[in-house]
Amino acid sequence: MATTVVFYSIAGQERAFAEGVADAVGAPLAELTDSFSSRPAGWKRRARRAVRQRVPGVCTMQDVVAGRGDVLILVFPYWGGSIHPAMTGFVRATTLSGVSVHLVVVRRRGGGDELLEQMEDDVIRQGGVVEGVGAVRTWLRSTQQLRALGSRLGEAVRQIPRRVGMSLQEWLRQAINDERSVRARYEHLAAFPGSRTVLRTLATAETKHLQLLQEVHHTYTGTVYEPKHGEPPAGVVPESPSLSREEYLQGLKDVVELETKGAVTYAEFALSFATQQDVVRLAERMTAVKQRQARLVRRLHRSESRSVPHSD
Ligand SMILES: Cc1cc2nc3c(=O)[nH]c(=O)nc-3n(C[C@H](O)[C@H](O)[C@H](O)COP(=O)(O)O)c2cc1C
Repeated sequence: MATTVVFYSIAGQERAFAEGVADAVGAPLAELTDSFSSRPAGWKRRARRAVRQRVPGVCTMQDVVAGRGDVLILVFPYWGGSIHPAMTGFVRATTLSGVSVHLVVVRRRGGGDELLEQMEDDVIRQGGVVEGVGAVRTWLRSTQQLRALGSRLGEAVRQIPRRVGMSLQEWLRQAINDERSVRARYEHLAAFPGSRTVLRTLATAETKHLQLLQEVHHTYTGTVYEPKHGEPPAGVVPESPSLSREEYLQGLKDVVELETKGAVTYAEFALSFATQQDVVRLAERMTAVKQRQARLVRRLHRSESRSVPHSD
């Protein structure tokens, strides 16, 4: 689980901050440079235009290899808009599946929220997990002070227990698989002679939920997720197509447990990707749906357990 500090700096302010971070974490530093780095004539005008037109830049850098479980701390300046050409270009060109990312924007006086928001979105779309976001002001601060601030952030990052986070894309694929399993169970239970029609309705509702999840998956990956295994998902329903009364009642209990677990998972999902409005909306809706379905099936299980089994 390696940590790397990646920074971009023209006059050395981000460098000072990044050095403080890297020292405290004990991590290597990697510098991004681009056509503005040597400050050619008119670079500020061109830089402002690139930011205004949201053109991600082409940057050069030392090799940064980050894999699942690794940590990247990105330090970059605010140039008055929602992208920073070099850092945005770097993030959009890097696969970050399962990489924990900290974002630090450095600016003279204030601003930078839109840049952090966009950068967070970019990191998530690349499969990364944003672990921390911060902003540093350079106004009236010496290089030493910036280094000391960096050192404080580095210490804080060092205290965070390391864990391998799930990317948004992995969360969505997991949710799609889980909903497929739940739908298969509802379908199987609905086939029990004398079962309530509500089970068929719930199976149909699961198809709608799958569509909603696929829609968001498509937004973030450009593809519809095709689970590898055929339908129904392996190991979800018993081999025998017909259920005994005991199996039917146990099946209802199992679904209650799955739906309850699902509600908790969706609530965590909303918290993990709080900046993604579409994801939060979906996750909150699914949390409510799963809670409602768990209640419904629990009631059904209770009344079915009390009812006298009909004999052939
Ligand atoms: C094109 C450009 C636009 C900038 N716009 C802002 C701004 O809107 N607000 C701000 O506080 N600082 C702004 N800055 C200042 C930078 O954020 C600041 O110079 C940088 O963080 C200092 O680090 P560096 O010069 O070592 O890269 C701008 C700098 C440039 C070059």
